[in-house]
Amino acid sequence: MISNHLLFKLASGQVFGHDQPIALKLLGSERSFQALEGVAMELEDSLFPLLREVQIGIDPYEVFQDVEWALLIGAKPRGPGMERAGLLDINGQIFAEQGKALNAVASRNVKVIVVGNPCNTNALICLKNAPDIPAKNFHGLTRLDENRAKCQLALKAGVFYDKVSNMTIWGNHSTTQVPDFLNARINGLPVKEVITDHKWLEEEFTEKVQKRGGVLIKKWGRSSAASTAVSIADAIKSLVTPTPEGDWFSSGVYTDGNPYGIAEGIVFSMPCRSKGDGDYELVKDVIFDDYLLKRLTKTEAELLAERRCVAHLIGGGVAYCD
Ligand code: LMR
Repeated sequence: MISNHLLFKLASGQVFGHDQPIALKLLGSERSFQALEGVAMELEDSLFPLLREVQIGIDPYEVFQDVEWALLIGAKPRGPGMERAGLLDINGQIFAEQGKALNAVASRNVKVIVVGNPCNTNALICLKNAPDIPAKNFHGLTRLDENRAKCQLALKAGVFYDKVSNMTIWGNHSTTQVPDFLNARINGLPVKEVITDHKWLEEEFTEKVQKRGGVLIKKWGRSSAASTAVSIADAIKSLVTPTPEGDWFSSGVYTDGNPYGIAEGIVFSMPCRSKGDGDYELVKDVIFDDYLLKRLTKTEAELLAERRCVAHLIGGGVAYCD
């Protein structure tokens, strides 16, 4: 469902620009192959002027050949009452396999966005299985959380979403994630100056963003699809267009060399800026207080535990799940 929303955005030019021709290669499974054929037919019938090619297949070693962007969406989604980490066992293998295939045949400069949950640790599994591709090129999607946080702050402050900037989601795409209201801004002012109910920020706001995915699953009976597709498009656009002066965006990226003292060797959502070349730099001028630091430690601990649990998939010896 996510892909079905996303593909038509990609093909229409909304994401990579209206002057950028595009070739889509769709990876499915034996079970989904007919549906894949159906999607390809709909794409063809839409006569998108920029869409030059649609290929479908079930072998990642064929489908990933020379790809420049790999959007890894397909995985088992969680159901009501599950945590995303509960999918590690089932989905981890998929991302190990896809990392190997990318390593073998994708463009050496491929940018990879991992959406299947738990996306941070799946991105870690993927990058560890693709040692010939820079680890920096792998992202775990936390843009949906950023968008959710911006929406809640805008609603509370009574402003339009575009007035909320500098919104960082720190850490894991899970209920330990930290939507950072200390560094975020509304109309250029610190959020805490605009929203003076700091208890609301610490409790209601934070929890709402952390649990939004789960609440949505309860309502829909399935996980978010349209808003996830929008956030994937946003995540790509943030990497292919220069970040506006003074602003940034969040992405789950590899922590080696990070300036915040976060443990190395995990995929952790952090504030990024891009020149629009597909690459990014971490933002240095952010501030921390005790509240923020305490929560960063918690989400970091969760990611370290997830890493221990997939040690067998990342060349780290015997797995141990807490
Ligand atoms: C979301 O945040 O909506 C998705 O990651 C799906 C989920 O399991 O919550």
